[in-house]
Amino acid sequence: MNIILLGPPGAGKGTQAQMLERDFGLKQISTGDMLRAEMAAGTPLGLNVRSIVESGQFVPDPVMIALIENRTLQPDCAGGFILDGFPRTESQAEALDAMLAARGSRIDAVLLLEVDVEQIVARLAERRAPDGSRRADDEPETVRRRIQVYRDQTAPILPYYENAGRLRRIDGMQSVSAVHEAIVSALGLEK
Ligand code: AP5
Repeated sequence: MNIILLGPPGAGKGTQAQMLERDFGLKQISTGDMLRAEMAAGTPLGLNVRSIVESGQFVPDPVMIALIENRTLQPDCAGGFILDGFPRTESQAEALDAMLAARGSRIDAVLLLEVDVEQIVARLAERRAPDGSRRADDEPETVRRRIQVYRDQTAPILPYYENAGRLRRIDGMQSVSAVHEAIVSALGLEK
C-alpha cells in the first residue's frame, strides 16, 4: 500500500508516518528529513537548498521529483511507502502519478490531516529535536510563511485528489493516538 499524508506544517504528518511505519512496516519517506540530512552532510544538494528550506519556501519541483523518483525505487519501499511532505505542488502530484503508472504502481490512499492555524503555531513553537535544538524554520515568522506557502501552493492540489474521490479528511486536532486510530480505520488496516 502506498499512502500520501497531506496537511499544513505541524499537522502531525511525520508523527503519524512514523507510527504507520512502526505498526505496518510501510516505509516513511519524509522529504523534509531527506533535505535536512543533505544539509547536515554538506552535500551539493544540501548547500543549494539550505537557504530555501530555512526561509520556509519550496525547493524547485524538478529537484523534489527526481529525489522521490529515486527514493521510491529503493528496495525498502517495495512493501509500500508513506509519502510525508510530497507532493506539495500540482506539478509534483502529476509527476508522482505518472512515475508510478509507468511502473505499474499507484497511490492507494491520500489522507489530509486538518489542523487549525493556532494549533500549528503552538505545536511548532514547542517542538524541539532530541538534543533540545530547534529547527531553523520553526521560528514564528518562518512558520507563518510556511503556512502561507502551504495555502498558496499545496492547498490548491487538494481538488486534484478530491475530485477523483481519492482524498480522506482526518481530524488532526485529536490526540496523537486518536489521530492514529482514525488513520488506521480510514485505511482499513488491522493491527
Ligand atoms: P517538512 O519537514 O516536510 O515540514 P512540514 O511539512 O512543514 O512539516 P513539519 O515537519 O513541520 O510538520 P509535520 O506535519 O510533520 O508535523 P510533526 O509530526 O512534526 O519540510 C520542511 C521544508 O523542506 C519545507 O518547508 C520545504 O522548504 C522543503 N520541502 C520538503 N518537501 C518539499 C517538497 N515536496 N517540495 C518542495 N519543498 C519541500 O508534528 C509537529 C509537532 O506537533 C511535533 O512537536 C509533534 O510532537 C506535535 N504533534 C503531532 N501530532 C500532535 C497531536 N495530535 N497533538 C499534539 N501535538 C502533536
